[in-house]
Amino acid sequence: VSVWAIVVAAGSGSRFGGPKQYEALGTHRVLDYALADARAHADGLVLVVAPERAADAEPAADAVVAGGATRSASVRAGLAAVPADAEVVLVHDAARPLAGAELFGVVLAAVREGADAAVPVVPVTDTIRTRPGGGDPGRTLDRATLVAVQTPQGFRAEVLRAVHAGDPEGTDDASLVDDAGGRVVLVDGHAANRKITEALDLEIAAALLVAHGDPR
Ligand code: C5P
Repeated sequence: VSVWAIVVAAGSGSRFGGPKQYEALGTHRVLDYALADARAHADGLVLVVAPERAADAEPAADAVVAGGATRSASVRAGLAAVPADAEVVLVHDAARPLAGAELFGVVLAAVREGADAAVPVVPVTDTIRTRPGGGDPGRTLDRATLVAVQTPQGFRAEVLRAVHAGDPEGTDDASLVDDAGGRVVLVDGHAANRKITEALDLEIAAALLVAHGDPR
């Protein structure tokens, strides 16, 4: 089975105040951790970057392509560079440096066992409310029914290509498979696999690297 990975790193990091995936973490850039983890289980690797970085050398990737205005558009740009004979595609956020190679293996195994999509999730520990607005006061959701979704997410390649036809928008790719009626399998994610969104997240990731040892 030919497995390709797409690492999306084309976000502008508006909440961070810059592209967080290029910040230093330990001895590497944030995105280098994502690339190394993805490489462990992929035959090929596509890195999706902001257009102004598309000419930069990234030796860890087999292809570097320019992303789009949204995460979904960036995934599609990456998918266009995945060879047609790839059977499984793993999609990962460059902003998640602490996923670990093992989680890629778990996601890949679930796809090999028949899932259209495999998604790591973790329990939600905060109580979550909907935002008030438009006369709606908002309400509290039942936390027991909620999970938080991470990457890497794994897909049968033909399913990922099919659900991206028509340029849909989603905050992840598994939600597009849900919308298309595909079979999404949940696997256990890791609490340490946080997305670097704010400056605090980078400080936490740095502390975790020190506490647990830099795997690279
Ligand atoms: O901000 P968001 O949660 O969507 O970012 C998740 C990942 O998607 C990040 O690694 C970010 O660089 C990437 N992204 C992208 N292209 C965009 C927006 C986000 O590659 N236009």
